[in-house]
Amino acid sequence: MSEPRKILVTSALPYANGSIHLGHMLEYIQTDMWVRFQKHRGNQCIYVCADDAHGSAIMLRAEKEGITPEQLIANVQAEHSADFAEFLVDFDNFHSTHAEENRELSSQIYLKLRDAGHIATRSITQYFDPEKKMFLADRFIKGTCPKCGTEDQYGDNCEKCGATYAPTDLKDPKSAISGATPVLKDSQHFFFKLPDFQEMLQAWTRSGTLQEAVANKIAEWLDAGLQQWDISRDAPYFGFEIPDEPGKYFYVWLDAPIGYMASFKNLCARRPDLDFDAFWAKDSTAELYHFIGKDIVNFHALFWPAMLEGAGFRKPTGINVHGYLTVNGQKMSKSRGTFVKARTYLDHLSPEYLRYYYAAKLSRGVDDLDLNLEDFVQKVNSDLVGKVVNIASRCAGFIHKGNAGVLVAGNAAPELTDAFLAAAPSIAEAYEARDFARAMREIMGLADRANAWIADKAPWSLNKQEGKQDEVQAICALGINLFRQLVIFLKPVLPLLAADAEAFLNVAPLTWNDHATLLSNHQLNEFKPLMTRIDPVKVQAMTDASKEDLTASATDTGQAAPAGNGELAKDPLSPEIEFDTFAAVDLRVALILKAEAVEGADKLLRLTLDIGDEQRNVFSGIKSAYPDPSKLNGRLTMMIANLKPRKMKFGISEGMVMAAGPGGEEIYLLSPDSGAKPGQRIK
Ligand code: MSP
Ligand code: ZN
Repeated sequence: MSEPRKILVTSALPYANGSIHLGHMLEYIQTDMWVRFQKHRGNQCIYVCADDAHGSAIMLRAEKEGITPEQLIANVQAEHSADFAEFLVDFDNFHSTHAEENRELSSQIYLKLRDAGHIATRSITQYFDPEKKMFLADRFIKGTCPKCGTEDQYGDNCEKCGATYAPTDLKDPKSAISGATPVLKDSQHFFFKLPDFQEMLQAWTRSGTLQEAVANKIAEWLDAGLQQWDISRDAPYFGFEIPDEPGKYFYVWLDAPIGYMASFKNLCARRPDLDFDAFWAKDSTAELYHFIGKDIVNFHALFWPAMLEGAGFRKPTGINVHGYLTVNGQKMSKSRGTFVKARTYLDHLSPEYLRYYYAAKLSRGVDDLDLNLEDFVQKVNSDLVGKVVNIASRCAGFIHKGNAGVLVAGNAAPELTDAFLAAAPSIAEAYEARDFARAMREIMGLADRANAWIADKAPWSLNKQEGKQDEVQAICALGINLFRQLVIFLKPVLPLLAADAEAFLNVAPLTWNDHATLLSNHQLNEFKPLMTRIDPVKVQAMTDASKEDLTASATDTGQAAPAGNGELAKDPLSPEIEFDTFAAVDLRVALILKAEAVEGADKLLRLTLDIGDEQRNVFSGIKSAYPDPSKLNGRLTMMIANLKPRKMKFGISEGMVMAAGPGGEEIYLLSPDSGAKPGQRIK
């Protein structure tokens, strides 16, 4: 055996101002599976993380809740830690960036950069909120897009036309915090001179540290030339004050990655076997990997290695980038119930279902990953329950009844155990390369072979024949051994299943190398069901619980735009309805007399509809697709006329118009053929 590797692994530090959701979990589960694999193989692998606790967003949220930022981040840290623990994400340390170790390291790194001449200062002019007495980050300024004239756009880009601009280009700018009109004000800022590291980055980003797609993207940025990076913010700010510069604070993204070091340093204090310098000094031979999402590549593959280099530390061995999570093929959406918080998932489903599904879909690329809820149920039930656990439940009973729970010695099918043994290096390679999907495919291929062999031998028939008892025991003993091999291979993904299986198998915690041996003359413990099937009802309950109450204000802030005050698309998991239920719906042709924007609502249009014998007022969340509502005037559409009127923030909605599409610009109002008359019923 070669020397165990020393590996330090991190996941991106989640912001301390919100809950963990299933998109975040993709990253933490991916990292945890890789770390568990390394530990399983006997390497020294340390996994650290922390909450990212600084910045004006956290300061403002604490203010809104009437608590101190320290209280807010403590509450959130408790919530995050519980979510991660229940998803079996096994950090060696989960710290906070608002910690003494981080203050010291951030100051130390900054001072080294400054003393080496990598920090510049100059005055910049920015919007300032005269009421709140603070400078405004781009996302805290709203105004009218200078290009297309859409109101209520953020300070850096227009959601409608996609234009990017400086906040000073916005027409009629307003502070999103106080509503005051911001004024321009000068202030001295500190900049990290990133261009000093152009050559180093050019080489480092091409030295096998990045996936190819990521390296290519970075090459574009490098070719375009690097800019100095603004690393300071003015008070009031929740963060660390810059040494020797009272009233100036480190920008949150300066001390956030240093939080990786700080969390490790905090761990070193209680783990005498760990030496900080052995992992972070310039000459360190330990490996260092950061797992991150594709949205934060510039911080990790440009700024961070440059900071480390400039301050005399080692650089990462690799930055492992993953894509974004979509649910049912679309961006997670509150209105569809697919914006699922970690806690909501855990209220309904077991963490290992999701861990397995993510493993089955994660390969080493940066493509987005889709959690298709129907496929999720189908795949977990068929692979884990139908294939893996099934082997044990088929065999255990015969061994307990026929041989007092003792596995007989021998090997009933050497060709099968040889195949399992031969597959191990390739499965390990796939794990190492973060190609979990391939590892899962290969493991399930082995499970298929084991099941086919048992089905062919049919111990349940042999058991009824006289004189076949030894054969039954030999078959089932091998069945249990093959199950044990599968558990060894799956343990990084399914640690709970593995622990339950170890209890049943009556063995010490399994490690990777155990796959090379078989149990013989071995006493088993009682068999208890190891995993149950996912009940689709639970998945539905989870999405129902995630759906925001689509009242006016919810519709207004939700990510997707349902047309009307209810749900649009047929949920793939919706139950069937009786014909009578359908017949009770009063569907009518409606003439849009007038369509107008609703003051104070981002997503809503107010529609005045003619349905033959009366006029109706309906609010519909379709504004994103119809920025010029007057174009709808005079158009026919369809409406549900007997929906219970609903009181919304802006008035009463008397029904619902029908539209299709995922939301945003893609909402398509339904229309009858020409000739239809307002008020006609749809049959
Ligand atoms: N605080 C920064 C990271 C600082 S690291 C020094 C941050 N926090 S975050 O909470 O917004 O995101 C944490 C991680 O979760 C990031 O790597 C991000 O890419 C990832 N994800 C957030 N939403 C995600 C999806 N919907 N899908 C996949 N990953 C997602 O960024
Ligand atoms: Zn615009």
